[in-house]
Amino acid sequence: YFSKTTPPSTSRFGPKGYLLPRKFEHVGREIYNMEIRPSDTFVVTFPRSGTTWTQELVWLILNNFDYEKALETPLAVRYIFLEFETFMNNNDMADMPIDEKLRKTVEENKLQVHKILSIASPRFIKSHLPLSLLPQKLLDTCKIFYVARDPRDVVVSFYHQHILMKELLDGVDFKTFWELFINDLIAPTPLFEHVKEAWQMRNHPNMLFLFYEELSKDLPACVRRVAKFLGKEITQEQIEKLCEHLKFDNFKKNKSVNLDNMKGTGLWNEKESFIRKGKVGGWRDYFDEKMTEQAQRWIDENLRDTDLRFPH
Ligand code: A3P
Repeated sequence: YFSKTTPPSTSRFGPKGYLLPRKFEHVGREIYNMEIRPSDTFVVTFPRSGTTWTQELVWLILNNFDYEKALETPLAVRYIFLEFETFMNNNDMADMPIDEKLRKTVEENKLQVHKILSIASPRFIKSHLPLSLLPQKLLDTCKIFYVARDPRDVVVSFYHQHILMKELLDGVDFKTFWELFINDLIAPTPLFEHVKEAWQMRNHPNMLFLFYEELSKDLPACVRRVAKFLGKEITQEQIEKLCEHLKFDNFKKNKSVNLDNMKGTGLWNEKESFIRKGKVGGWRDYFDEKMTEQAQRWIDENLRDTDLRFPH
């Protein structure tokens, strides 16, 4: 059905058997042994769980609300995407008629672990790897934000991202994608193991565990939690301005985060958007009765051994 994110171009990695592109064999060890600095900040998620939203929130608080810089420097440049090279073929862009600025952005964003080592502090790093595949000293060294989201909304959002990034063959419908996803055949599943690993560490002093649903329901409260966790004083006025900046409609128009510049490159589907709907519970429009029951069973089975619950 697919290209880089499904078998046979993938393998299983780590104790929980996470599905990742084969290329991870080469970079996984380097990442695991990578040197971490106390000044590093990590945003870690299963894809489509609210990564971009959280990245911008955290970056602005840690950069004295420098909106000017945030608007002129793409988020993809402000953050290193740790395992990017795993998903990107070096040749993917070689022959593409894309403009030089975009090519430079992608080049800068590529993982070369040795290159990451030479980046000046403070480093901002995003990753979709589960904790067990991240640098071993991570939690004991720097601050980590983990964001989780109702798996049903994640699947729908991820399906659209696969269409956006032309990862699906024409005509692969949501139902097929869903079947593959719950059978752990889409990288980087299994989703529940990914979330549960982080949930177990949620009380670690260096970990802030957030839910997409909490961001959606009460963004100011989440901003306050993030600021407190980072030891930053923040005024009511600053909170209001930040929440306005992070509001879905503004975010969707924000060229620094919406990746709209990928459109027109031929790499992305013009009909989809990276910042898409921003809804909690949007999955209901995609699931028939049978799928709804199947999803409930899937969730119940996977939550049986944990007190993790996704808020509504
Ligand atoms: P949908 O596809 O359901 O709209 P990630 O950044 O981890 O890839 O997550 C992407 C999801 O977060 C998308 O979900 C996207 O629309 C949503 N999102 C991004 N920014 C948002 C914001 N400011 N408010 C609400 N949702 C946002």
